[in-house]
Amino acid sequence: MIQNPYFRWENGVLHTINQRELPSKESWLKLKKLDDYFNAIRELKVRGAPAIGVVALFAVASAVYEENDSAIIRKKSLEVVEKLKTARPTAVNIFNGLEALKTKIDAFNKENGEEMKEMIEREAVSLFEYEVMTCDKMAENGAPLIKDGMNVLTQCNTGMLATPGIGTALGVMFKAFENNIKFHVYVPETRPLLQGGRLTVYELEKMNIPYTLITDNMRGHLFYNRKIDIAFVGADRIALNGDTANKIGTFESAFLAHHHKIPFYVVAPTTTFDRKINSGKDIEIELRKNEEVTSIGGVSVSIAKSVYNPAFDVTPAEYITSIITEKGIVKSEVECIKQLFV
Ligand code: MRU
Repeated sequence: MIQNPYFRWENGVLHTINQRELPSKESWLKLKKLDDYFNAIRELKVRGAPAIGVVALFAVASAVYEENDSAIIRKKSLEVVEKLKTARPTAVNIFNGLEALKTKIDAFNKENGEEMKEMIEREAVSLFEYEVMTCDKMAENGAPLIKDGMNVLTQCNTGMLATPGIGTALGVMFKAFENNIKFHVYVPETRPLLQGGRLTVYELEKMNIPYTLITDNMRGHLFYNRKIDIAFVGADRIALNGDTANKIGTFESAFLAHHHKIPFYVVAPTTTFDRKINSGKDIEIELRKNEEVTSIGGVSVSIAKSVYNPAFDVTPAEYITSIITEKGIVKSEVECIKQLFV
């Protein structure tokens, strides 16, 4: 059985690998203070929608770990919740997780600090465990779609670095590989921060899954030449109608897949759905620093003064074949999505 080695919670500290340094350096972060957590999330040292949703709850657990007074625990928790909501705007998991925890804290009517602190830690650990389970179930549901000889396209990094479990889109591939299916993955490098080239390749290498790295602008050429049989991507926020925000470039892959009649699957747990919004038009897209575009790996490659750097795009539901969740595979349509939550 595949186990995620990248997250460990111990005595109020979250240990996680620094994803900005991969693959050249395997250095570990020890997250304890609110600023450590905030910067790690904002700087993508820890990233991926399900992962940051869970890490945000550990940030609250860390902040109150040494406190005993219920009023201080309440105050500190709410400070962390409010601050972390400003770390990254697009992935909904962080908001869903923090809002649910805030509701629990507000409803906690005992003034016993120890119990309140235990409740907060328990919430973080149980969301972690829930996401391990969602990954396993999504993998079970999606793996049969990959057949011997297929060429699979993905985007960004959606594996054990991006979730507490085995991953979303990449988890489906890990499971198919474990089931002895022989397939090959095309990995777009995913500019500007190269989550594909740095992180997905790192994970596929470790698993010994055959892959080929491509630059992002090679996808059309591959589709045209019938080199892609199926696509799996993750998600950062899915609206009620199935419109899906994911790493920038996902929409282009979906559009190409649709044009070439290739199945295109989004793999995401129900914690990545935002039932408060009806369509992708309501999803805030994170805009990031110019330097991420004007440099590669810290080396400046352009003197451009005008730069546009949206971190995500929205794929309209009509370009998505289906969404693979822990509760089953559903059409990207309002009625089917609503059924996931009854
Ligand atoms: O900016 P990132 O690296 O956090 O973006 C991550 C993605 O877009 C992933 O595809 C998404 O979070 C799903 S990960 C399981």
